[in-house]
Amino acid sequence: MDLKEKLQSIEKEAEKLFKDVDDLDRLEELRIEFLGKKGRITDVLRQMGKIPAEERPVIGLIANQLKAKLNELIQLKMNELEELIREKRLAEEKIDITLPGAGPEIGHYHPLTQIINEVKDVFIGLGFTIAEGPEIETEYNNFEALNVPEHHPARDLQDTFYIDDKYLLRTHTSPVQIRTLARQKPPIRVIAPGRVYRSDELDASHSPVFHQVEGLVIDKDISFSDLKGTIELFVKAIYGENRSLRFRPSYFPFTEPSAEVDISCIVCGGKGCRLCSHTGWLEVMGSGMVHPNVLEMAGLDTRVYSGFAFGMGWDRVAMLKYGIDDIRLFFENDRRFLHQF
Ligand code: DAH
Repeated sequence: MDLKEKLQSIEKEAEKLFKDVDDLDRLEELRIEFLGKKGRITDVLRQMGKIPAEERPVIGLIANQLKAKLNELIQLKMNELEELIREKRLAEEKIDITLPGAGPEIGHYHPLTQIINEVKDVFIGLGFTIAEGPEIETEYNNFEALNVPEHHPARDLQDTFYIDDKYLLRTHTSPVQIRTLARQKPPIRVIAPGRVYRSDELDASHSPVFHQVEGLVIDKDISFSDLKGTIELFVKAIYGENRSLRFRPSYFPFTEPSAEVDISCIVCGGKGCRLCSHTGWLEVMGSGMVHPNVLEMAGLDTRVYSGFAFGMGWDRVAMLKYGIDDIRLFFENDRRFLHQF
């Protein structure tokens, strides 16, 4: 086979191989095989020394034409393959715009915030304003000024987180009564929602941090019937018109007389069930007429002024309203829980 025939057979073989190529790597392999420095065309040209000098330009010309032709074939094939790859990618990335989209997630208030907002609305509607106090309180405001004597069990180290001799984490919202009395003259109508602390073991119904709302009304001619009317209106607004309530004599150092407020059980309606320990009643708050000692320590004339106060845990309000049986859920902030409200 002379060189010319060799080149012709290379041409045939190349045409056939290039036609079947279906990926870019294989194409590059073939380019090196035919056109590379040690490729088959170069190989033919190396044998030029063996042929007569006058034939060399002819063979050189044919070889160059073949190189040009193969380069063109490669270029065409490359374009074709790149186009295929692009089409494939587009098909894969195609978006079905008829699918329904993922709607934006809209945040909402924590269930405890929702409840306190409802509670606030009820009292604001009655002409109350919102009062606040710090969570780090003085022993004086938390106990002394509320007529809690020094050796009262409520002061026990077991219940109270003391910071030092003078400061503690407030164990109830009642010290906001004292702060309000110190900065405001009667008539006073405030509620004070906030966080409170007690060194309780954490379990389904106890948390070392929980929430209370305090209420305080001071004016001339305030009587126990004002207390009853206000609380009855509140209970019905929050727990429903059909809820019955009762005032049970009780004791708090800062009120006299004092009463615990019970509502008819929201599960059994009064028949008796597990939630109400078969009594038909649920205890929801403490209340009473503000003790004269408290008013006097605040510098008010008890011949002119009287008042009532109440205090309740609002975690419990939320638990009763939503049928939640574990207080810890409020603080764990598991989205599966929160999303239900
Ligand atoms: N401070 C009381 C507690 O934490 C609740 C309470 C009872 C508040 C009677 C009051 C009240 O204002 O009059 O248990």
